[in-house]
Amino acid sequence: MRVLVLHAHPDPDSFNAALFREVVAALREGGHEVDACDLYEEGFEPVLSRAERRGYHAIPANRAPVEDHVRRIERAEALVLVHPVWNFGTPAILKGYFDRVFLPGVSFRLVDGRVRPNLQHIRKLAIVTTYGATRLRAWLAGDPPRKYATRVLRALIRPAAPIAYLAHYDMNRSTDATRGAFMARVKADMARF
Ligand SMILES: Cc1cc2nc3c(=O)[nH]c(=O)nc-3n(C[C@H](O)[C@H](O)[C@H](O)COP(=O)(O)O)c2cc1C
Repeated sequence: MRVLVLHAHPDPDSFNAALFREVVAALREGGHEVDACDLYEEGFEPVLSRAERRGYHAIPANRAPVEDHVRRIERAEALVLVHPVWNFGTPAILKGYFDRVFLPGVSFRLVDGRVRPNLQHIRKLAIVTTYGATRLRAWLAGDPPRKYATRVLRALIRPAAPIAYLAHYDMNRSTDATRGAFMARVKADMARF
């Protein structure tokens, strides 16, 4: 499959960056064609400008400012996100990717004012993420990033497409053993993607 891997972490020495490299390597070993998009490394500009907001509904001109990223997601048959949880959401650079690239005519269409999904060519979704909080604390907060992935993104892709949500909670108290076990789980999941 052609897999677009979106990564959002500023530090190449971080655990998240190591997860990203493992995901890309395991997918490639499994024979997948991987488009590895490190948003920080590529200098992605996450701010939706005034002009973009004004032209937001103008299909297809709305895609011009992010044409390359639109082309990359339109080629993808699967999507993998690798990011830490910040303020119970994704890092701003990834949120900005959704704001600017998930446009009308790209990720959804408006039909009689109602949202219709437009990423049905994506038939598999995986999220690899880490939380400082425990699973309980995240649950008490409503776990917004989990819901965004399993409810919002799910609704945009092929109906009934499998979704894997791989999360290491409680990173604040993680050890070499917990991080190693999570890395192994991610590698195994990606190997049989
Ligand atoms: C700006 C910032 C905001 C954060 N907000 C949260 C949060 O809302 N919930 C949470 O569980 N952890 C939060 N964390 C903790 C990160 O999730 C944790 O540092 C990260 O998962 C560790 O992975 P890393 O070592 O690869 O950065 C935050 C960390 C930072 C730097």
